[in-house]
Amino acid sequence: MLPIGSTIGILGGGQLGRMLSVAAAQLGFKCHVYEPEKNPPAGETSAILTTALYTDYTALEKFAKSVDVVTFEFENIPSKTLDYIESIVEIFPDRKALKISQDRLFEKNFLTKLGLETAPYLKVDDVTEFKDAVKKIGTPAILKTRTMGYDGKGQVKITNEDQVKQISKTFKTSNHILEGLVDFTKEISVISVRNSKGEISCFDPGENLHENGVLKTTTIPAQIPRALITDAILLASKILTALDYIGVLGVELFISKGKLIVNEIAPRVHNSGHWTQNGCVIDQFEQHIRAISGWPLGDGVRYMNVTMENLLGNDILNTEIISQDARAAIHLYGKKETRPGRKMGHVNRLFPKN
Ligand SMILES: Nc1ncnc2c1ncn2[C@@H]1O[C@H](COP(=O)(O)OP(=O)(O)O)[C@@H](O)[C@H]1O
Ligand SMILES: [Mg+2]
Repeated sequence: MLPIGSTIGILGGGQLGRMLSVAAAQLGFKCHVYEPEKNPPAGETSAILTTALYTDYTALEKFAKSVDVVTFEFENIPSKTLDYIESIVEIFPDRKALKISQDRLFEKNFLTKLGLETAPYLKVDDVTEFKDAVKKIGTPAILKTRTMGYDGKGQVKITNEDQVKQISKTFKTSNHILEGLVDFTKEISVISVRNSKGEISCFDPGENLHENGVLKTTTIPAQIPRALITDAILLASKILTALDYIGVLGVELFISKGKLIVNEIAPRVHNSGHWTQNGCVIDQFEQHIRAISGWPLGDGVRYMNVTMENLLGNDILNTEIISQDARAAIHLYGKKETRPGRKMGHVNRLFPKN
């Protein structure tokens, strides 16, 4: 067990880092956040903040030497940065999970090999492969960048032949995949956690609604058959074990024709797990800190029904009205600038469990 008073390094200073640092502080740890942007949300809640680029090796060395363990709240950290940090201090979850989740092609190959179903997919590195993939997969389909995508960014939905022609003319970028559009009835996610002893705990799956590719609400419990809930939890556990994973992992799933189809995995705390802050005794942030610190895992049991709503862009202007609801737990990220669709905070609304 990492001794109380130890320092946890967090790569990335966004809202996930902020909430991780609060959970760490509750367990008596200090956090050192490393983030290229000035005044990040996690800076306000952490003992130490380093503002430096991921390519600043002097700053990285100082950071790595000042902490007892490193984790991250953001997946797209350059691998050279991670190599360098790893030569000084351990990173959890380890590189294997990151390597897979940073690249949509590796991710889909990994899931398929595990025997899990994904959307049909093909790699697209040039126009010929693109046309060929559209022929094989058909439309509607989604063309996605293999790396660096988040919140629906780096994706184009393809619905007709004109679009295929248009993209064929302008298409320059390699490193894409084409995915068949899954005709889903619901999107759910499982927030799961595993520690170094191989203990696993999963929170109840939540039902997710997206707006323009960005999560808008998560509702717990998901209104799906009991058997699917069990299947989703077993599926997440299979992924954790296959990766010999340490920390919290988010697994995004589609339900289509009564079956589970894996969309993607996120090797970190996840937006669709924010409801656990008020629905459970131990939330996803504390579970993550416990797992990476070698603590026993907490109990993932849920005590309330919860609806989590993201406050996107100007939604934050409604905070005063929301605050009049005595069962609405408000979580704001302290971001100075509001932009359309930007995650500014979230609100967990609690209802008795029936
Ligand atoms: N193959 C697909 N079929 C149907 N919907 C999809 C597919 N891929 C993505 N989507 C929709 O777009 C959202 C964002 O895509 P996702 O692959 O999860 O990327 P991100 O990394 O941006 O979260 C998904 O939650 C889902 O609503
Ligand atoms: Mg996603």
